Amino acid sequence: MPTRFDPAGPLRGSLRPPADKSISHRTALIAAMGEGETTIEGYLDSADTRSTLAAVAACGAEVEGVGPDGVAPEVKIRGVGLRGARAASIEVGNAGTLLRLLPGWLAGQPQGRWTLDGDDSIRRRPVDRVAEPLGLMGAQLSCRDGRLPPLEVEAAPLRGIEYELPVASAQVKSCLLFAGLLAEGPTWVGERLRSRDHTERMLAAAGAHVTWLRDGVEVRPAEGVELGEMAVPADFSSAAFFLVGALLVPGSEVVLEEVGVNPTRTGLLRILERMGAEIEVEPLPGARGGEPLATLRVRVAALSATDVGGGEIPLAIDELPLVALAACFAEGTTTIRDAAELRRKESDRVATTCEALAALGASVEPTEDGMIVEGDGGLRGGLIESHGDHRIAMLGAIAGLASREGVTVEGMDAAGVSYPRFEADLASLSGGSRP
Ligand code: S3P
Repeated sequence: MPTRFDPAGPLRGSLRPPADKSISHRTALIAAMGEGETTIEGYLDSADTRSTLAAVAACGAEVEGVGPDGVAPEVKIRGVGLRGARAASIEVGNAGTLLRLLPGWLAGQPQGRWTLDGDDSIRRRPVDRVAEPLGLMGAQLSCRDGRLPPLEVEAAPLRGIEYELPVASAQVKSCLLFAGLLAEGPTWVGERLRSRDHTERMLAAAGAHVTWLRDGVEVRPAEGVELGEMAVPADFSSAAFFLVGALLVPGSEVVLEEVGVNPTRTGLLRILERMGAEIEVEPLPGARGGEPLATLRVRVAALSATDVGGGEIPLAIDELPLVALAACFAEGTTTIRDAAELRRKESDRVATTCEALAALGASVEPTEDGMIVEGDGGLRGGLIESHGDHRIAMLGAIAGLASREGVTVEGMDAAGVSYPRFEADLASLSGGSRP
């Protein structure tokens, strides 16, 4: 059913966005690699992260705290041990991160065979980017047409390699680091441009030997890893929708609590600041699991155009559609380049972002590796299609509140992949007047 988002009053108030998706996936996977019990406080309750709990359970981990009504505030996982994953057929649903990270752990098991498959959208997401380097390590993998799921993994002895990532990808890096725990000799993954480093931080916290070395990261083989206790910060990528909403809707002031502000995730802050935003970042004590936390405060601001590219792209990869939205309200021409990876997300986000913003009245041109947006003083409004992509659905909602005539979003339910309470949280900030 289409969902309507009309221009309402200002966004005001405070909230804690839902738990970080990337970190939740990793806590479940690394907890499953341990032998003891890991307690995870505030695991994200979303379709994607439930797929990861189901996947580790299929591999033999005991998972407590998830049922038909949702994920409990505390999840406990008793792992199978680093070399104890049970053979299984795994349904990853829509979770690209699960699809790319899990094979690294499975490939180096002493025995077993696994199949990873998912929904129609996941079946279009390339896995050759992990299959190729894992193959260099000695892994036995096969996938459809040599590049797409389903992915078959058969246990095999692995050897450490030195591998320079052809494109910045935290998913590929993380997959290889997991495999490296089980390989003979060290594994080094080079990244010319840094990507999010949650896996490195969490593996180090779990006792693995992880070293930052020569523009890359090295992991040594391990006897075991043990995470113990973990608390998941609020997701910067979810907070980002309210940050941009508050910047664009006149009279807004929003406070976002306990947000993870790992610098490999917060490229959007630097981009928005360059455009003229003033965002207060008040660090909180007690970083959790090696992750820094902060309270963010943002007010409406007049924005000017900017150029985004190079090393900034992986640090803001999931927020680039929001940069394009902000650019519609900024003065001047904004260019996003070096972002061809956007075309390989839950949807082709160069195409779906441009299509959505153009349908709302924006002057926006897709390019091979990004887009060019002319700031026209705002958006008229209209109808957009989410294409089953959670970030496009939420982009449409924020655009609606900031637009002159409102936005109808087809496929709003896609938001549940990362943020099931999105509409309720948005309503609480806009005084309950919408949705
Ligand atoms: C993620 C890494 C990014 C990001 C995705 C989550 C992760 O993908 O777009 O939403 O959790 O590692 P890539 O590593 O493919 O860039």
